[in-house]
Amino acid sequence: MKDQLQRAKDYISKKIGTGYEVGIILGTGLSNFADYLSDKIIIPYPEIPGFVKSTAPSHKGNLIAGTLKGKKVIVLQGRFHFYEGYSMEEVVFPTRVLKLLGVHTLIVTNAAGSLREEFKPGSIIMLKDHINFMGTNPLIGPNDDSLGERFVSMHDTYHEDYRQKVKLVSLNNKVKVSEGVYIAVTGPSFETKAECQFFANIGADVVGMSTVPEVITAIHCGLKVLAFSVVTNYSNLIQKAQHSQSEIRENADVAKANLEKLISEFVKDI
Ligand code: HPA
Repeated sequence: MKDQLQRAKDYISKKIGTGYEVGIILGTGLSNFADYLSDKIIIPYPEIPGFVKSTAPSHKGNLIAGTLKGKKVIVLQGRFHFYEGYSMEEVVFPTRVLKLLGVHTLIVTNAAGSLREEFKPGSIIMLKDHINFMGTNPLIGPNDDSLGERFVSMHDTYHEDYRQKVKLVSLNNKVKVSEGVYIAVTGPSFETKAECQFFANIGADVVGMSTVPEVITAIHCGLKVLAFSVVTNYSNLIQKAQHSQSEIRENADVAKANLEKLISEFVKDI
């Protein structure tokens, strides 16, 4: 795996150069965030050694390097999900490549369903913790000590100082953000009402099918992490009708502008 990672890193850095500080993984409906970057260099995923092809709707599949408010950032426009049939190793491959490319911070976004009445569709939740309910872990298998340690601590996973900073940015820019616990499931079926009830009972606020593998991997290799959910729908605990993909996209659009503002103002002064 190390060779494959190195090949990807070499391929990318030949095209984009060095000096990048922040990696940003974009979830469902958020891929236009890359429009905010200047001096863009775009590399389609299929070109990159070791990157697999994303099959999820509205996931574009590009690595975009550029400048955001004076900071050099690398945006991953589209991610690989476990439910698409990829191995965990494939799902977290881009995260490890970001580390090799030299970023110190990873910002992850996702679409999620709400388990709480007060977290309405269209709102933004900053993750304060997570529950890994995927039944697996991206670090299973031989540990590469040059990437990170075997038994990695998940204390302060979502960087405390960063979260304080985001709260300030939120106040200064009048963009509402709440904090919550994200529970990760594999999908691709949505959760039943009974599952949602259970998740709410054990302390989760939002549920989704991504993010946790990348976050665990990022912590393993020493990145500072911040993550946001865009609430695209009420989960079946609250929602009475069936979910539709168009509903999910419309609600992502509502929160999108707000989250873009929040992330770019945050990135400016880290
Ligand atoms: N459940 C799981 N994943 C999701 C949801 C949901 O309700 N909405 C968007 N992604």
